[in-house]
Amino acid sequence: MALRAPRHFLDLDGIDGATLRRIVDMGHAMKAAGKGVPNELKPEGIADLVLMMIFEKPSTRTRVSFDVAMRQLGGQTLALNHADLQVGRGEPISDTAKVLSRYVDAIMIRANKHETLGEFAAYATVPVINGLTDRTHPCQIVADIMTVEERLGPIGGRKVAWSGDGNNVAASWIQAAARLGFKLTLACPPQLNPEHALLDWARDEGADIALTDEAAAAVAGADCVVTDTWVSMGQQDDARRRRQLLAPYAVDGELMRKAAPDAIFLHCLPAYRGSEVAAEVIDGPQSAVWDEAENRLHAQKAILAWCLGVD
Ligand code: CP
Ligand code: NVA
Repeated sequence: MALRAPRHFLDLDGIDGATLRRIVDMGHAMKAAGKGVPNELKPEGIADLVLMMIFEKPSTRTRVSFDVAMRQLGGQTLALNHADLQVGRGEPISDTAKVLSRYVDAIMIRANKHETLGEFAAYATVPVINGLTDRTHPCQIVADIMTVEERLGPIGGRKVAWSGDGNNVAASWIQAAARLGFKLTLACPPQLNPEHALLDWARDEGADIALTDEAAAAVAGADCVVTDTWVSMGQQDDARRRRQLLAPYAVDGELMRKAAPDAIFLHCLPAYRGSEVAAEVIDGPQSAVWDEAENRLHAQKAILAWCLGVD
């Protein structure tokens, strides 16, 4: 059993700015080093450490990038879908977390409900990593910040614009804005705004955040324009209403031209061309989505290294 409290990576509001800065910088260093992770960034005893991944929802990037990241660090991995575990038949999450902590050295979970992540972390004695919930997606934002910085330089003082659903990815951007000092402007239909409590928290922490219902106003002069699917995993029953509400927030060439001339476009993927983003944008010269997706790998190495004790 772990002797110290495990270093969970649950949400960016629970990680101070200096630590998040260090994790992003480790991500840059991991990328520069390629497959040969520098010794100072390798967790102690990594060859004997196992990462377990649990998926309650589908995943391409998170699953593969965490798996490859752990292998490149020198460790081992194990992935299971939720239905394969006894939790699928009613075993308490608390019991599952305690038992798995006796077998593996870190647990990444993609959960339907944010509360599941919290319960896992409360009972696990090894680090727990948030691989996306209905409320947040912090690993994605580490990769996104890396992408902004490699294209445009330090993110501090830059303007990031979000146009679309005030969803889990937007929530992690809001938390990051409170930690890293960039300006964040969100344009969302009022029915799909981010939670007020989250915005209030971020502003209390000193974040420079604006919320509007006009996409053009949010994107004006932005250095980075971000969007995401209109129908997140688990929201299929509400798809029709969401598509109607979100249609004015689609990122097309006309909207992109309102941003700074060298602005980049980000999307966590999977993307739906012709809905939240036009093909001319995601497949155009301002799109950084393939670097963004690659950076998930380097970001995961940094997150794993930090969770496993690298400072
Ligand atoms: N962006 C992202 O998390 O992708 P996956 O759902 O494929 O993991
Ligand atoms: N908002 C999306 C992100 C997918 C990576 C979802 O939750 O489905």
